[in-house]
Amino acid sequence: MESIRLDYGNFMAPRLRGGLEPSTLSTSLTSAFEAALSTVSTWREEGILGFLDLPYASDSVAEVTKLADGFGQSFDDVVVLGIGGSGLGAMCLRDALLGPSWNQRSVEQRDQLPRLHVLDNPDPHTFRRLMEQVEPARTLFNVVSKSGGTAETMAQYLIVRERLDEVLGPDHARSHLLFTTDATSGALRQIGDAEGVPMLSVPDNVGGRFSVLSPVGLLPAALCGIDVDALLSGAAEMESRCRSEALSSNPAGVLACLLHHADTEQGCPIHVMMPYSDRLRSTALWFQQLWAESLGKKTKLSGEERPTGPTPLAALGATDQHSLLQLLMEGPADKVVLFIAVDDPGASVPIPDRHPEIDALSYLGGHSLGELLATEHAATAEALRRVGRANATIRLPSIDAHALGQLIMLLEVATVLAGALYGVDPMNQPGVELGKQLTYGLMGRSGVPAPEIVDVDPRWVL
Ligand code: PA5
Repeated sequence: MESIRLDYGNFMAPRLRGGLEPSTLSTSLTSAFEAALSTVSTWREEGILGFLDLPYASDSVAEVTKLADGFGQSFDDVVVLGIGGSGLGAMCLRDALLGPSWNQRSVEQRDQLPRLHVLDNPDPHTFRRLMEQVEPARTLFNVVSKSGGTAETMAQYLIVRERLDEVLGPDHARSHLLFTTDATSGALRQIGDAEGVPMLSVPDNVGGRFSVLSPVGLLPAALCGIDVDALLSGAAEMESRCRSEALSSNPAGVLACLLHHADTEQGCPIHVMMPYSDRLRSTALWFQQLWAESLGKKTKLSGEERPTGPTPLAALGATDQHSLLQLLMEGPADKVVLFIAVDDPGASVPIPDRHPEIDALSYLGGHSLGELLATEHAATAEALRRVGRANATIRLPSIDAHALGQLIMLLEVATVLAGALYGVDPMNQPGVELGKQLTYGLMGRSGVPAPEIVDVDPRWVL
């Protein structure tokens, strides 16, 4: 199995004008990396980085696959109810490994495997449309919430549950539900225990946005026929590469150091992830959450209060060459780009040579769409380099479970290393609490005082 590669030549001087000096990489960045690795090792020893152990969690994987096999072909549709880290991972796995049009494919094209929907946003229009589309008797609802109390997810669960009870009766309703939640606490666990709903546990030390390789992502993946063993073996391979104490052979270390240095020393706090594959668009969205929620912090580990953190931005090549690229090339030099390129485009689509007489078209004939996409990536990376804009490329041999497992683990380890470099706790998210509490109060949750919301000031409304 081939490894994924990180090409960061377009960050380095003199290839990149004003780029990172190799001597800086081998001195100050190496020292920073060593200190960060030591912090991460301490966190690991403290047991808070449970995601690093997921590739080796054979009991949990066996439980997931047994459950998925047991469901067999009972369902036409699997609906995940989960938001943030409880929804993005399933989308990332589905779109990368089954293709973004999986749900539009016929049952034969899907090899009798179910469609996979993720309802994250409680948008009533989306919710209603999906509920009209799926047949309750042929649908499994996988309710995913580590805390077991997230308003968006639980509100959708309550509606689904009522509908299942109405249509199937309470006894049958249970066999159309599966909860993925904390092993001991939370409302979802309480309901599951009381009503005998099958449940899978999210390990206590695996945070939401690091949970894609836990039952959170693996169960929906296994139900849809994704090779979870290959996914985890790829992740294990990368986890082992990222243990290297030498920066030069640690891809997560290099990535974290380059992006942290770009932000803190080179005035580039905006980190664009731009895969050249539709199948990886959701991976970029998954990374956007991982990078933002892990690194955007007000309080440093030292106790100092100083807002910290880069701004990730998910993009798509070549589509966003016609949207963001002008800004990336000529706008403020405050961005770096992390491309993802794929050697095997997944389909061979030749471009016919139909108009040899028209110069504006004839150059395309005889090539393929895959070649065009790969060339556009190479050209964009070179164009950015020529104007002194740093960029790097993660290159996948192909988009398969083994390569995706490597990519996921690479980005997760880079995130915790970046947390150590920034001097923040990458595992918490205190900043999202206030909004949650205000929502609870406004929605009338018992024990949460109704907050006073500053009235709309008509002077400032047009
Ligand atoms: O990364 C995180 O911790 C968050 O994005 C959570 O995944 C998200 O808030 C959903 O939380 P829960 O799984 O508790 O419903």
